Amino acid sequence: MRGMDKLQDVIELLKKYNQEHIIEFMNTLDEKEKENLENQILQIDFHQLLELYDNTKKKVEIKENKIEEIKYIDKQKMGNSKKEQLENLANDIIATGKYAVVTMAGGQGTRLEHTGPKGTFKLDVYGKGKYLFEILTDNLKEANKKYSVTIPWYIMTSEENHENTLDFLEKHNYFGYDKNYVMLFKQGELPLLTLDGKLMIGKNKLIKLASDGNGGTFASLRLSGALADMKERGIKWVFIGGVDNVLLKMVDPILLGFAIEKNVKIASKSIVKANPHEKVGVFCNMNGHPKVIEYSELPEKMAEEVDKDGELKYGESHIMCNLFTIDAIEEISKQPLIYHSAKKKIPYIDINGKEVIPNEPNAYKFEAFIFDAFTFFDDIAILRGKREEDFAPVKNKEGVDSPKTAKELYEKYWG
Ligand code: UTP
Repeated sequence: MRGMDKLQDVIELLKKYNQEHIIEFMNTLDEKEKENLENQILQIDFHQLLELYDNTKKKVEIKENKIEEIKYIDKQKMGNSKKEQLENLANDIIATGKYAVVTMAGGQGTRLEHTGPKGTFKLDVYGKGKYLFEILTDNLKEANKKYSVTIPWYIMTSEENHENTLDFLEKHNYFGYDKNYVMLFKQGELPLLTLDGKLMIGKNKLIKLASDGNGGTFASLRLSGALADMKERGIKWVFIGGVDNVLLKMVDPILLGFAIEKNVKIASKSIVKANPHEKVGVFCNMNGHPKVIEYSELPEKMAEEVDKDGELKYGESHIMCNLFTIDAIEEISKQPLIYHSAKKKIPYIDINGKEVIPNEPNAYKFEAFIFDAFTFFDDIAILRGKREEDFAPVKNKEGVDSPKTAKELYEKYWG
């Protein structure tokens, strides 16, 4: 009887949200498959999904907002005594075990076309090569040595790459990192929708889901128990960074010291844009709150605007090098984030169970971005770093931000 009620609920829900094709598909399934699908459908927030779909039809209007340039300090122009003062502020936190690191490794790395999680990509450096996860481990081990601690390291995976990531790290013995200080946690997912707003079915005969973007980090930290673990360890500051920048400095005492001195809950390291039209998001102040505007949303005139010193007004680019207090993470994790949509080519199975591989983008993927969380705060500490020291991303298979450019920058930096 209960089973019938459940089925009825599912059918009503699907009808209400114009997803009748799923009812039709359900009729082709055996009892077990049907039950799995029903359970999955009952977990979906259809109201939210409808809203996300409606938003794909709206255009983002930057002009309605009050946009100003953001304040930052330049690490290169800082005197030694200032640096020392900031380092001292940071020492108290790092050396006493109150600093943790999160690596967001839940992305699909589609542009790189590497099979397997991006962190398992081997960059061809120094003949032997180094895996991206290995490069991150090197950076953390160096900090551990400097501060005589072991920094807890939280790695965010996705439903899709969790097992592979775990297997890889086990196989390589966590590149010598103390396993008791490494925790993997999974990020959340959202359904994909066709361009007509319909749910899609995957090979496993369930609704197709995909990672909800790196903005999902905060909620996933809380829901997975990682945030509680941090609290138990007495963590006060958390660095959150990407998996694919081979010059990423995850423990920069100047950045931390600057945030403490400025008495803010969030901080970020930027680098100046290579040219006004580089495809990066830039910092600004929007309606009195820190914000990153995507390159695609930044009007051309603003992209080229310079200040009295001839520097780009909106030239501080966001490089996924962010710091948050533990309280800030808790706060953000309970807020609804903004979702962005991107058109993707998503294979699916049709009503007859036949796989369809599209040649053109056929679906919307919804992603929250980590930097949208800045808007919840009144202020942020931005430290301008240096491209040659801080930024060598592995994004594309070839050309800009590719393994080739990252290798060159990495080897140049390390000499
Ligand atoms: P990108 O947005 O560059 O995505 O991620 P990506 O997966 O690396 O590559 P493409 O766009 O598919 O080619 C920036 C950082 O955010 C993480 C990535 O792993 C990377 O460290 N990320 C992205 C997540 O952890 N989860 C997501 O859902 C998306």
